[in-house]
Amino acid sequence: MRDTYQSGVIAEASKDALFLTFNQTHESGATEVVRKELASMPERLARFREQYPDAGLHLVVGIGSAYWDRLNPEERPALLRGFPALENGERVAPSTPVDLLFIVRADQHDAVFELGQEIVEALSDAAELVEEVHGFRYKDMRDLTGFVDGTENPEGDDRLDVALVGDEDPEFAGGSYLHLQRYEHDLTAWQRLSLKQQEDTYGRTKADNVEYPGDKKSLHAHTKRTSLKHADGSSMEILRHSMPYGDSQRKGLVFISTCRTPEHFELMLKSMVEGDEEGHADRLLEFTRAVTGASFFLPSNAWLAQLA
Ligand code: HEM
Repeated sequence: MRDTYQSGVIAEASKDALFLTFNQTHESGATEVVRKELASMPERLARFREQYPDAGLHLVVGIGSAYWDRLNPEERPALLRGFPALENGERVAPSTPVDLLFIVRADQHDAVFELGQEIVEALSDAAELVEEVHGFRYKDMRDLTGFVDGTENPEGDDRLDVALVGDEDPEFAGGSYLHLQRYEHDLTAWQRLSLKQQEDTYGRTKADNVEYPGDKKSLHAHTKRTSLKHADGSSMEILRHSMPYGDSQRKGLVFISTCRTPEHFELMLKSMVEGDEEGHADRLLEFTRAVTGASFFLPSNAWLAQLA
């Protein structure tokens, strides 16, 4: 099972992406249609890869935490649970559950567009589109605040170790827990900060993306709040696949975390929103606001195939 993980869980960042969320309808037979369609997604991806051999096309299929038992009442990933809604004054992390998530990503917009359209069409009798967000690479992998995003992500085989469920849950080995949040930035307020204030907010320099030494980082800095350690001193890791999105009305980041356990994301988010015991919360959240939040499990391709 573990070897048949969905390639998009691990693959390096793409230039273009489509994030699609759906809720299944209550029509009779809808669950069967969804099961059949999910089972055929790996085959659909293979077909598109033949048409777009150089696009670096990936497709990630996620099943929502609350929806899981309707789709597959027999068995459930051991740690699959709802999104942890949090609130601390202006800093919020709402929970907005949805049934299904598809992330289509590639280095070519046409490939992403076409596969995305086919997925919407395939599900049209059984599920309603909730949100459709187009992500893109901004400069040298920067967030719209102008800072490089993804630098401290695990590399090489560590990506598999961090993101994929292993022997701890054999039935779901090769799967991954995914958290999705769409953030809307207040770039007007952000641009009012001096360069130094922006850099302090992240704990990294802007142009050349160098990490501040530990003793120079504010306790409110984003990288301080998200660099957590296990009791044995080892780093707590997640594999992020976030991407900027936007138009003239709203802009920000589609934040994506994948991990072999939901716990790392949950603790990081708590550390950002609620802060430490003295209430040092993440300064970044004064300039961006989460408007959605949902948790999913991304089963292996072998597991998806048996849904048919
Ligand atoms: C680091 C941006 C939300 C977890 C970073 C970095 C940037 C960034 C620019 C520094 C470079 C890097 O290592 O990637 C953002 C933005 C966010 C956001 C713009 C929201 C709008 C989150 C959330 C989490 C998170 C919600 C987890 C709950 C991390 C982690 C690191 C990081 C683990 C690496 C820390 C380190 O080891 O230095 N983020 N991030 N981020 N972020 Fe975020």
